[in-house]
Amino acid sequence: MKVKQIHKNIGVSIEGIDLSKIDENTFKKIKDLWVQYLIIIFPKQNISDEDHIKFGKKFGELEVHPSLSHRSSKNPEIYRVSNVDENGKIIPNKETSWQYLKQSWLWHTDSSFRKIPSNGSILHGISTTNKGGNTLFANMYKAYEDLDETLKEKIQNLRVVHDHEYIINLSKELSRRKNKGNYDKLDPVIHPLVRRHPVTKKPSLFLSPHTMVKIVDYDYDKGRKLLEKLIEHSIQPKYVYEHIWNNDDIIMWDNRCTMHSVKPFNNNIIKRIMHRVTLVGDKEPVMA
Ligand code: OGA
Ligand code: MN
Repeated sequence: MKVKQIHKNIGVSIEGIDLSKIDENTFKKIKDLWVQYLIIIFPKQNISDEDHIKFGKKFGELEVHPSLSHRSSKNPEIYRVSNVDENGKIIPNKETSWQYLKQSWLWHTDSSFRKIPSNGSILHGISTTNKGGNTLFANMYKAYEDLDETLKEKIQNLRVVHDHEYIINLSKELSRRKNKGNYDKLDPVIHPLVRRHPVTKKPSLFLSPHTMVKIVDYDYDKGRKLLEKLIEHSIQPKYVYEHIWNNDDIIMWDNRCTMHSVKPFNNNIIKRIMHRVTLVGDKEPVMA
């Protein structure tokens, strides 16, 4: 197993292993590296969805995504992050299912709309592009660490309302439609703005711009301004690794201390197919 750092502040790549057959010792090493470096790139993993699921299940239970139309018809644990339908046809830009998925171009943390958000995600690039479609990952420990003490004190006890509906409301197209898509019902939830990682015990900023509605018990406009300022701070290149995909890269990230976004690509002509499994969270986020 060959481990290489890919950015000063976040991420490693691991080569020389096959994720469809790893022993317990290798699994343990991967788990430790994931917690230590936040994201892992595994190049050249030409594995089946079943093996992808099997690998994910080593970490625990897997989520089924609330959006019905993005679940694989064969394996509900596979979330199809794709502008191509299961018959291989590009989904027209106006289609509700694409407009929903397009919201992943915004910065976010997976499943921040759940009371217990996901621990981590594992994404398999099946048909990738380097003409846009790069994925960006931010180290939210480091973003927090670098805030000045006054700001740290100011945000220390704040809590934020996160809502799945907000993803839809942020979309100009979807928000004005009667049929906004088919989703499991999810009530708004409240999460701390600064959370403590259950394993490393380190504090990080918990931002998920596509679900963050407002700060609780705070002037709405001032709260929005504060959130925007924290987002801008966190997405500076020094905190962010940008991945240019090759087919059969698999990326695993820790949702408890990162956020990510996707750079736009021409979804009308390029076929981009990514399959994701999502690790069920084991604890509600704890205020740091
Ligand atoms: C995700 C996501 C990343 C990508 O899978 O959680 O936001 O590169 N997409 O498509
Ligand atoms: Mn995502």
